[in-house]
Amino acid sequence: MSATVPEVSEAPRADAYFCEIPNDPCTIVMFGASGDLAKRKLLPALYDLAIHACLAPRFRLLGFARTEMSDDDFRHKTEEGLPKKDVPGADPKRRDEFLKQLQYFTGEYDDPESYKRLAGKLDEFDEAEHLGGNRLYYLATPPDVYPHIVEHLGRAGLAKPKSKDSWTRIIIEKPFGHDGASARELNATVLKVFDESQVYRIDHYLGKETVQNLLVFRFGNGIFEPLWNRNFIDCIQITAAESLGVERRAAFYESAGALRDMIQSHVLQLTSLVGMEAPATFGATSVRNEKIKILQSIRPFEERTVWKSVVRGQYGPGTVNGNAVVGYRQEPGVKPNSATETFVALKVLVDNWRWSGVPFYLRSGKRLARPVTEIAIRFKKAPHMVFQGENVEPNSLILNIQPDEGISLSFGAKAPGGQMHISPVTMDFQYRQAFGAGSREAYATLINDCIRGDATLFDRADSVEAAWSFVDPILDAWGHSAPPPFPNYPAGSSGPRAADDLMGAEGRRWRPL
Ligand code: BG6
Repeated sequence: MSATVPEVSEAPRADAYFCEIPNDPCTIVMFGASGDLAKRKLLPALYDLAIHACLAPRFRLLGFARTEMSDDDFRHKTEEGLPKKDVPGADPKRRDEFLKQLQYFTGEYDDPESYKRLAGKLDEFDEAEHLGGNRLYYLATPPDVYPHIVEHLGRAGLAKPKSKDSWTRIIIEKPFGHDGASARELNATVLKVFDESQVYRIDHYLGKETVQNLLVFRFGNGIFEPLWNRNFIDCIQITAAESLGVERRAAFYESAGALRDMIQSHVLQLTSLVGMEAPATFGATSVRNEKIKILQSIRPFEERTVWKSVVRGQYGPGTVNGNAVVGYRQEPGVKPNSATETFVALKVLVDNWRWSGVPFYLRSGKRLARPVTEIAIRFKKAPHMVFQGENVEPNSLILNIQPDEGISLSFGAKAPGGQMHISPVTMDFQYRQAFGAGSREAYATLINDCIRGDATLFDRADSVEAAWSFVDPILDAWGHSAPPPFPNYPAGSSGPRAADDLMGAEGRRWRPL
């Protein structure tokens, strides 16, 4: 037998990710195209869509930013962020074609002239490439320039669809505001220029396969939903732990902190998906209507309850994965006496019929022992233990969002032997084992959805504001007093001791990281 037979099928359509129906032709204008997010996430996501035949062959990307750059420089910079090898089964020529479809535009975000030139460029593309006038604006700039871009797009006549058959949409990156008031202001600015149906507020967690699977797991199966309530569930823990530190983002992170950066967005998204009622259909209006009800049912914090139920922390020097790392205050760009929190743990109550009395414990932090994002559902103990002397751990269902994507259910089993001893065991589902590698990048899923006009996995104006209403009282309370002595946890640990005490006081424990 020949040793050259490839292991992987070369048939391009063997991968379920290929799009049978490519999207509409369009131009994507990426504001902030010279930045880190564009290079690391957005352009590779578009490339991924291109090689899987999800982008229309007639497509243009115009990178808009202040930095002077030629088209070739932009293509070169983009290429540096692309995967080194082509995905098996994909057309290798597509890489070059994709890069040729990129162009760069040097402009000022608050200069009307730039938008006039932009309008001309877009018309040129439409005419030369027959793009049908479809336009997607992606705001990936620092958030303080979002209002300028939106207003100028409006004034230049670029916000309205070009014709009755074309569409114009805008994706706005997080953070959407830095508190409730600024989010409301930004919504007002955006909605003066765009209709809500054109606006796609992105939270990349919603594009993760495992996060979407939460809906399938809950509402596509009959087995767990009857148990998914206060009668059977003792508590829910949601963890978004990172072992990375602040990296090169101190300028942003110093004014954000873990509460704004992770809890207000990603962790509350997970909370809504775990807690929501079944939507009438899997469509944008129904899903988003149900999600916001959870945010509206969370018991609001008061100053008194913030001190009792919210813990903040900041990492000091320590060891992560065997490497010594500096503390947050020693990171480049961080103030030596910074009071920014890099860790938050909190207990949340959801006041509705399903969840009355069931605490949701949420935590997120940087420079923790291990990167793990998971949702742990802890069930109540068996009502009466007939196996004398045996202490059986309550059943837990772990939804592992990343990095070991999967779901596992723990229960007690009889250990082999003459005596009745009960040991904890698990039933495991592993994504990689069941489906193989190659799930789609979150950003690719979300950009694809936006081009298709599906807003199910994007935030609506009211839900962003509701998430801030939850966070605002905590920010207010913290604003009134000095933080605990920082740093209060070493890098590479599980966070501050006060986070353990938060659960310990109620006879519960965090799942070890
Ligand atoms: C971003 C935060 O939204 O999410 C970052 O700004 C964080 O601070 C990142 O590191 C985590 O995303 P992921 O997909 O790596 O879990």
